[in-house]
Amino acid sequence: MGAETTPSPVSLASLQRMKAQGEKIACLTCYDASFTRLLEGAGVDLFIVGDSLGMVLKGHESTVAVTMADMVYHAANVARCGRHALRVVDLPFMSYASRDQALGNAARLMREGGAHMVKLEGGTAMAGIVEHLARHTIPVCGHIGLLPQAVHKLGGYRVQGRDEAGAAAVLADARALEAAGADLLVLECIPAELAARVTAAVNIPTIGIGAGPSCDGQVLVLYDMLGITPSRRPKFVKDFLAETGSVPAAIGAYVRAVKDGSFPGSEHSF
Ligand code: KIV
Repeated sequence: MGAETTPSPVSLASLQRMKAQGEKIACLTCYDASFTRLLEGAGVDLFIVGDSLGMVLKGHESTVAVTMADMVYHAANVARCGRHALRVVDLPFMSYASRDQALGNAARLMREGGAHMVKLEGGTAMAGIVEHLARHTIPVCGHIGLLPQAVHKLGGYRVQGRDEAGAAAVLADARALEAAGADLLVLECIPAELAARVTAAVNIPTIGIGAGPSCDGQVLVLYDMLGITPSRRPKFVKDFLAETGSVPAAIGAYVRAVKDGSFPGSEHSF
């Protein structure tokens, strides 16, 4: 009888190794215990307990209404059953406006929510906050390009970095966050060619959403890739349930498509 093998937990070092070896990182958002088990069973490497939960679980129009209590509750549900995937948890809107506030809330997400890493939105302007967290040994994921928490300032959910100045700003954001000590970067809704430049320019792994195929990994909002989000489907989303017919098969197909580089295709990229 063959010995059962349990995959060892994904760590920052594993993500770095995957980037170095060109092995794609499969990431999905996750907010509860049942999906934690299903996603880990399908081989998802990385969970983002995202503040997108404010829209897909709570019915808000944006992520702005999400609270620390929401994030701690959902992160803890995921942590209770998580065994393998690395868990990144979002710091919600206005929970990291100062260094001390960011440190206190990041520590709470780790202590009460079982986060392995916290994520915050913003580039160069957030470098000081990222540096403060990193100095206190808190792993940090930056999030640049489209910043959903800034939707009212941006005037909508639009592709960022399309012109030369915008592209230079995204590149500068990535470099500033890496220099400040960020361990991972989410690139949201930027042209594929710019995401490829960012991914080559930094040593930390990049995870794309609407950022083309050259990122080190891919993430989608779980409910979007299952086709159950009622709003209009953005160009970068593929409904994996439609072609597989079951939730476990859809998640398996997503992981395979990310790993073999067939998702995202040009039809999902800007
Ligand atoms: O809130 C979220 O779910 C996210 C990911 C989609 C990157 O930030």
